[in-house]
Amino acid sequence: MNTVTELHTHGGAADYRDHGLIFPRGFVFGSATASYQVEGAFDEDGRGPSIWDTFSKTPGKVWNGDTGDVACDHYHRQGADLDLMKELGLGAYRFSIAWPRIQPTGTGAVNQPGVDFYSRLVDGLLERGIRPVATLYHWDLPQALEDAGGWPARGTADAFEEYAAIMGRALGDRVHTWTTLNEPWCSAYLGYGQGGHAPGRHEPAAALAAVHHLNLAHGRGLQALRATSAGDPEYSVTLNFHVLRTDGPGNDDAIRRIDGLANRVFTHPMLRGEYPADVIADTAAVTDWEFVKDGDLDAVCQPIDVLGVNYYSTATVRLWDGTSPRQQNDGHKGASDGTAWPGSHELVEFVEQPGPFTAMGWNIAPDGLENLLMSLHEQFPHQPLMVTENGAAFDDVVAADGSVPDADRIDYLRRHFTAAHRALSRGVDLRGYFVWSLLDNFEWGYGYAKRFGIVRVDFDTLERAVKDSGRWYSRLATTGVLPE
Ligand code: FCB
Repeated sequence: MNTVTELHTHGGAADYRDHGLIFPRGFVFGSATASYQVEGAFDEDGRGPSIWDTFSKTPGKVWNGDTGDVACDHYHRQGADLDLMKELGLGAYRFSIAWPRIQPTGTGAVNQPGVDFYSRLVDGLLERGIRPVATLYHWDLPQALEDAGGWPARGTADAFEEYAAIMGRALGDRVHTWTTLNEPWCSAYLGYGQGGHAPGRHEPAAALAAVHHLNLAHGRGLQALRATSAGDPEYSVTLNFHVLRTDGPGNDDAIRRIDGLANRVFTHPMLRGEYPADVIADTAAVTDWEFVKDGDLDAVCQPIDVLGVNYYSTATVRLWDGTSPRQQNDGHKGASDGTAWPGSHELVEFVEQPGPFTAMGWNIAPDGLENLLMSLHEQFPHQPLMVTENGAAFDDVVAADGSVPDADRIDYLRRHFTAAHRALSRGVDLRGYFVWSLLDNFEWGYGYAKRFGIVRVDFDTLERAVKDSGRWYSRLATTGVLPE
C-alpha cells in the first residue's frame, strides 16, 4: 500500500518541521501507558501472574533480566501520577487494564481490589477533566489461560468475552473510549511465531490461530462491552500498521504478502467481515484455517467509532532470491527472524532502513505516518482515526540542574505532529493523538534500557521529572497550536 513511489508523489517539504500549525477544536491530545509497563505491584491485592511475569523471569528473555515487578510503581503512585497528567494539561489518558488483576486465573470470580484500582483511576481522571481511554488487553494474558493453550486456543476468546463484560459493568458508566486490543500483531506473531514476546513460542500455525482468536476476542469483547456499558462510550481497537516500502522494482509481491499478514489480516475481518483470500492462499502450507468457524466473521466485524493507529517507523521489503544472505532488518520490535511471517518468511527479506534512527534503531520517517493515515482514509473512508501511539526512545541525559533537555524527542514529535496535521488538511478524519509514553517504563524485551517517556523516571528512586519534551507537549495540549 505505501510504496516509495507514493511517498515521492505527496509530502511537501521533506523535513516536516513546522510550528504554529493549528489543530482543530476538539482534537484530543493524550498520552499512553500500559499496565505491565508501569504498574509494578505484581503480586499485590490478589493479582495473578501474567505471561509477562513468567517470560521476564525466564533467563535470557529480557535485557538485563529486568521485570515489571516494580516498574514505575504506578500502582502505589496513582494520585501523584494523575496530578502530573493534570499539570501537563493532557486531554486524555490511554491506559490498559491488567486482566490478571481482575480475574487472577483469567476466568471466574472477580477480584474486587483489582477492579477498584481502575475505578479509582477513572474517577481520578474525570475529576481532573481528563478522558479515560481504556484498553482491555495490552499483552498481559493471565498465565493460567496460556497454560490452557493461550491465544491459539479458542477458549481464550471465550474468556476474553467474559472479562470484557465484567469491565463493561464495572467502568462502562464512566470510560470515554473502550479499546479491545492493543497491537494484536505483536500478541500473535511475536508471542507465538517469532518468540521475542511472551509467551515466547515458535509455532507458525499457532501464530495464525492466535490471529483469528484475537480477532474473535475483539468482536465478541466489543459486543460484551456494548451490552454492559451503562454510559455512552466510544468503541475502538488499536492496530500497529506496517508501513511498507521497497527499494527497487519487482517487489510488489513482497509488499502484498507482508501487508496481508501485518495489516489486512486484522482490518479486513474487523471492518469488512472477511479474511483476505491472498493471505489464506499464502499460508496454505502452514494452516488450513479450520479454526475459523461458522459465524465467526459476523462476530469479528463490529462497528467501531474510532480506529486506533500506532505508528513508529517504516519497513523496507523486497523479494528474496533465495541465494544471497537473507537480510532480516525490520526495525520495529525486530520481528525479522524465525517464524514471524508464516508462509512468507522464506520469500521476503527486510532490508536496512534509511536513517536517522531512534535509540531503538527504528528509522524516523514522519512521511510514513502521513502516508499511513491517507491510506487508511482511502481504504476505510468513513472510519474516524486516532493515533493511539507515537513517540521515541532516546538516550536521555540529565542536566546538572535536573532537567532533561531531550531536543531529539521534541524534534521527533514535532515532525510526526506535522505529518498528522498534513493528513488532517488532506481530509483525514483524525480525532486525536496519544504520545507514547507518559513515563519511561518497562519496554518489553528491552527492559528499562529504552526510555520513551515525556516524563523521566529514576528507576532507583522512582522519582518523576518532566522532560523538556513534556513541557513542549504541554504547550501543544493546552493551546492546540504546534509550538516552536
Ligand atoms: C508498541 C507497544 C507499546 C510500546 C511501544 C514502544 O508496540 O504497544 O507498549 O512498547 O511499542
